[in-house]
Amino acid sequence: MWITAAEYFNKINADSRKYFEINENIYEITPDRIPIDFTKIFNKENSVLKFEIGFGNGESIIKLAKKNSDINYFGIDRKMDRVRTALAKLNKAEPIPNLKIARSGTDYIEEMISAGSFDEIIMNFPDPWPKKKHHKNRTINDDFVKIIHRLLKPEGIFRFASDHEEYSMEVLGVFQDSEIFESLYENGFKNEVKDRIQTQFEKHKTKAGLKIYHLKFRKKPLSS
Ligand SMILES: C[S@@+](CC[C@H](N)C(=O)[O-])C[C@H]1O[C@@H](n2cnc3c(N)ncnc32)[C@H](O)[C@@H]1O
Repeated sequence: MWITAAEYFNKINADSRKYFEINENIYEITPDRIPIDFTKIFNKENSVLKFEIGFGNGESIIKLAKKNSDINYFGIDRKMDRVRTALAKLNKAEPIPNLKIARSGTDYIEEMISAGSFDEIIMNFPDPWPKKKHHKNRTINDDFVKIIHRLLKPEGIFRFASDHEEYSMEVLGVFQDSEIFESLYENGFKNEVKDRIQTQFEKHKTKAGLKIYHLKFRKKPLSS
């Protein structure tokens, strides 16, 4: 059943509040706070804002934010248990003022976030839905690429990583066919990226001997 953004956020917020307390580490997206005003979330004057979709246990985004205190990071994940795990890590750590996480999926992302908000959007190991009959559940498709384009600043970057070759190649094809992004990797992908902070899934998959597919695209202007 289709529900409005307000109904969605009221519902997940009521659910989340049963499992964790709202504090300075977590941003509660409420109907009156959309589209999100990032200048109110981050007090510092960092001009670069990066956005991770599906941060999982938060390992990567937390390390990135600690390492790059001059960059603001905003992360979302739709699953309660993932948000709770990441929040528990943050609550134990020294304050990280340039990082905020929120519980949300991407269904209302266009209402939630204003155009041209991000310098970079990151998706690490998004669920590949390997069975053909489930491919329709994959987050990245033609429409999503247009949304990503809209949310990025001019020349903004989209990064993707996955161990699932077929999904990675599908994503590469969708971005290339869109003609509104250019791939920044020769042949479209790399299996290794120097100095990369690995995510929890990446560590597991690498340990299991699987190849990782890294994609990187730059937003092009829309042709008139
Ligand atoms: C396979 S896990 C990868 C987690 C983490 N990125 C990593 O690499 O360790 C995929 C994560 O994306 C989240 N997720 C999947 N689809 C999502 C969506 N449309 N919006 C937000 N989160 C999503 C899931 O809840 C899950 O935590």
